[in-house]
Amino acid sequence: MARSLAVEDLAIVAPRREGALDVVHDVSFTLTAGRVLALVGASGSGKSATCLGMQDALPPGLRRTGGRVLVDRRAVPLAGLRGRTVATVLQNPRTAFNPILTMRRHGREVVEPAGRKGADADTAITEAFHEVGLADPAQVLDLYPFQMSGGMLQRAMIALALLADAPFLIADEPTTDLDLLSQGRILDLLEGLVVRRGIGVLLVTHDMSVVARLADDVAVMHRGRIVERNGVEGVFASARHAATRALLAAHHALYSGESMEASS
Ligand SMILES: Nc1ncnc2c1ncn2[C@@H]1O[C@H](COP(=O)(O)OP(=O)(O)O)[C@@H](O)[C@H]1O
Ligand SMILES: [Mg+2]
Repeated sequence: MARSLAVEDLAIVAPRREGALDVVHDVSFTLTAGRVLALVGASGSGKSATCLGMQDALPPGLRRTGGRVLVDRRAVPLAGLRGRTVATVLQNPRTAFNPILTMRRHGREVVEPAGRKGADADTAITEAFHEVGLADPAQVLDLYPFQMSGGMLQRAMIALALLADAPFLIADEPTTDLDLLSQGRILDLLEGLVVRRGIGVLLVTHDMSVVARLADDVAVMHRGRIVERNGVEGVFASARHAATRALLAAHHALYSGESMEASS
């Protein structure tokens, strides 16, 4: 299994009539097996564009103008990363599923290209759904996305990521749309995957409590550039850039608000 995935000098623009807007500027980072790199930054700083651009999966309106990806130090085509090498978990799981397919069909689309069919495929799919804690996998496999809660869909998306058996996972704001209880469960689940399977994770978030909980390393994005990097302790102990301090201030404001409520 691959041990490292390096993104080098990723550059993305939004072409506009009045001139191209730099959305991502010379962004470089490395994912390592068994570690979590948090990519943090305010809304609009270019985090999602980075996640999509590194897989050559940008939406209309954005264009990659530079960058390469090395897996175990060997340059690879970006468009071939998705699925086998990099699995993705998105903020809004509902948009990631085909509304007219059951979970079983979604699972089969992932495992059949790897040659697993019929009962063999169903066994793999059931195991993956079990691993993410979907209580009754046999029953869940016959559900359509509309029959499932956001938290269940987020787990199902992680199950599909597991089925792909990719060594790296990109999780773009995986807990932002979930209630607090589901957030905690998804974070526990991700942590378990890193420990048990040794996958390397790029965790995108604007929430420093998620960073504190899960990250080993942190890269801070501001207006399309990485402006600060550090180990997780270092970021909390001595943030250097104003963008980092702003994220920490939001985190501390929320935290002290909670403790005031608790003491009242
Ligand atoms: N499809 C698109 N077309 C044009 N501009 C876009 C598109 N998607 C995002 N952008 C712009 O790219 C910048 C970065 O967006 P994004 O990567 O989504 O930020 P983040 O994920 O950090 O909130 C923003 O200025 C946004 O307006
Ligand atoms: Mg985003």
